Amino acid sequence: MEKIVLPDIENLHQIDVYIANGGYKAIKKALSQSSDDIIDQVKKSGLRGRGGAAFSAGLKWSFMPKTTDKPKYLCVNGDESEPGSFKDRQIFEYNPHQLIEGTLITCYAIGAKTAYVYIRGEYHKWIKLLQKAIDDAYEKGFVGEKMKETFGTDFYCDIYIHKGAGAYICGEESALMNSIEGKRGYPRVKPPFPAQNGLWGCPTTINNVETITNVPKIIEKGWEWFANIGEPKHPGTLLFGVSGHVNKPGVYELPTGTLLTDIIYKYAGGVPGNKKILCVIPGGSSMPPLRGDQLEGIKMDAESLRAAGSAIGTGGIMVMDEDTDLVKVLARIAHFYHHESCGQCTPCREGTGWMEKVLKRILAGNGTSADLDLLISIASNIEGNTVCALGEAAAWPVRHMITRFRDYFEKRVKKEIKLPVKNTVHSMRHTAFPIE
Ligand SMILES: Cc1cc2nc3c(=O)[nH]c(=O)nc-3n(C[C@H](O)[C@H](O)[C@H](O)COP(=O)(O)O)c2cc1C
Repeated sequence: MEKIVLPDIENLHQIDVYIANGGYKAIKKALSQSSDDIIDQVKKSGLRGRGGAAFSAGLKWSFMPKTTDKPKYLCVNGDESEPGSFKDRQIFEYNPHQLIEGTLITCYAIGAKTAYVYIRGEYHKWIKLLQKAIDDAYEKGFVGEKMKETFGTDFYCDIYIHKGAGAYICGEESALMNSIEGKRGYPRVKPPFPAQNGLWGCPTTINNVETITNVPKIIEKGWEWFANIGEPKHPGTLLFGVSGHVNKPGVYELPTGTLLTDIIYKYAGGVPGNKKILCVIPGGSSMPPLRGDQLEGIKMDAESLRAAGSAIGTGGIMVMDEDTDLVKVLARIAHFYHHESCGQCTPCREGTGWMEKVLKRILAGNGTSADLDLLISIASNIEGNTVCALGEAAAWPVRHMITRFRDYFEKRVKKEIKLPVKNTVHSMRHTAFPIE
């Protein structure tokens, strides 16, 4: 199966190799068409956002005003701070020029002359690699004013990297814009939406790194080609980042609609020691967890996962085997969201701390069945009551984990489970806050 975002081409990160493989031809092709045509093709391709919400990319672009006296902006979201998500970094490292070319085409389509690639500040290595690629593209005349000469048109566009300071909340699109503006990363109330009132009050589009990296191939090969890959309602490929208890953790680019069990057993090599799977979080730590005994037939695309009671999120698949201490996992997740809550909304600021506290009480062996209902109640009172979706991100794993594994949690509070306990899962180990 052909890979769109991370093709198996050696040294593709080098500009000459990218050009030798047809690179920077899609921007030339795009510039020979109207910006409306480009938006139309991306709409018809069915490309949906890869940053979490799976919203139609072409439709989002069409919200940008056609006539305005204000400058327009594109923000490419590479904050990638959710536990279990580690795919955008692969693009910075292995295929940065396709991201740059996608950024140019997107800017042309929406009428922006400036793009900011927002990258989590700790990702020093990837910031350096992308900056090198951007510098090389400037030198060759593919970015900046020299574009006019290279492509013989009036359009040109500048690309800047903006380093974040390591806050998960700054991946939320409106907090990201505040952060670029030099303000505290507080999410903004919506509406107004960024297409009307974005960076410095100007029309702005925000898309994920992987979303943008798909764009050159859609222009090069046509929207029909893209629309026919994977699931019709969520076409293309996804970068599935598989972590936790699998033999071959890593990032796998596969068509949407690939079976979750195939990703775990066929591609990621199955579970060490052939243990049973207790739980899988299919799209990054904020997505509703699935029971290991109910994975059969689940396809990995936005619609199928919604039908299965979860969501595709960022495609970060976290696998937990039968010996995993789910209370410890959930306490660790709750700790993360408590730490990352920006504190602007009371339900999230207070509720995330309460959930962590109650889970730690259960972990210490002092929990009761009533604590489980209390946790569901706190989570339900956060959901829908905050300015941004960090509230849901914190509440979903708690509410769904306890509801779906009620039998397990009841046994834990009654101390009926003997635990060969492990340290949560790989993807959470790198974080700086051990739960003990
Ligand atoms: C707390 C929070 C953190 C987020 N972090 C990211 C992120 O790191 N990268 C990302 O692309 N989207 C992130 N999002 C989603 C963005 O708000 C936005 O929907 C996305 O960047 C849009 O791009 P897409 O349509 O291409 O998916 C986050 C959302 C929330 C609520």
